[in-house]
Amino acid sequence: MFIKGILLLLAVISLSTGRLLPEPETRIIGGKDVDIESAPWQVSLRSFGGHICGGSIYNESIIITAAHCFFNDDGTLQQAKDLTVLAGSADKQSSATIVKVAKIKPHENYISSSKGYDIGILKLSEPLDLTTNKIQKIALAEKDPAPGKKGRVTGWGYVKKALVSDHQGELYTTYSPFHLHAVDIKIQQLGVCKKGFYEVPNNLFICAGSDGSTTCEGDSGGPLVVDNKLAGIVSFGYVFCTSLTVYTSAYQLSEWIRTNAASI
Ligand SMILES: *[C@@H]1O[C@H](CO)[C@@H](O)[C@H](O)[C@H]1NC(C)=O
Repeated sequence: MFIKGILLLLAVISLSTGRLLPEPETRIIGGKDVDIESAPWQVSLRSFGGHICGGSIYNESIIITAAHCFFNDDGTLQQAKDLTVLAGSADKQSSATIVKVAKIKPHENYISSSKGYDIGILKLSEPLDLTTNKIQKIALAEKDPAPGKKGRVTGWGYVKKALVSDHQGELYTTYSPFHLHAVDIKIQQLGVCKKGFYEVPNNLFICAGSDGSTTCEGDSGGPLVVDNKLAGIVSFGYVFCTSLTVYTSAYQLSEWIRTNAASI
């Protein structure tokens, strides 16, 4: 999931956290704190209790996330028993509603974020209570958003990532928020991401973000919402989360989501 560009700034990363670099990850850059009531479909996916990715509630038993969130650094699939989902809280440390994961299902065509099909679903071990305004499902978009439209992304990904030098060499410093962040972003033409990245998937994606407003490590798998529908799933972006992010199109993979949500 980590593509080495010729220039460091062209390198891309998928957007999950909790692993050693170089790793796929994404976070919200240029955003602000929001309450869970403004994004009640947002969940935090945890591995051994630590936040790794975002996700969206499809229905009381099914969560949509990115396929790469299900894989370990060595390419092996995580085990459902090691995963949990936090719902109904903007506080990443909350223990309010944590549900065990019963089953995971990455898209069968998924190889790496930059090759597309970066989508997966998971089934919860017990259904969520959708009767509160803190936990709600989100409908899938019925078309891809037009370039120029505004969308909103939410997540607990890094709010800042920088390369710093000290006498031992260069290292990353990152700032990981406890509270859910949101940023409003602009949908771009697919060609902008095709130009901007070293490698891009087929056309089953959405290109969005601009300088200073985008996602970063830890936001992976989380929702890009346009007109109150799930339009995209955070997939990958630049190493320093400077501008564009590639999102898996929820609309174009909606048939896969429906079929697999019924059969998982
Ligand atoms: C979730 O959605 C799938 C696919 O539409 C469906 O088969 C399943 O029954 C739904 N689960 C619940 C709890 O509504």
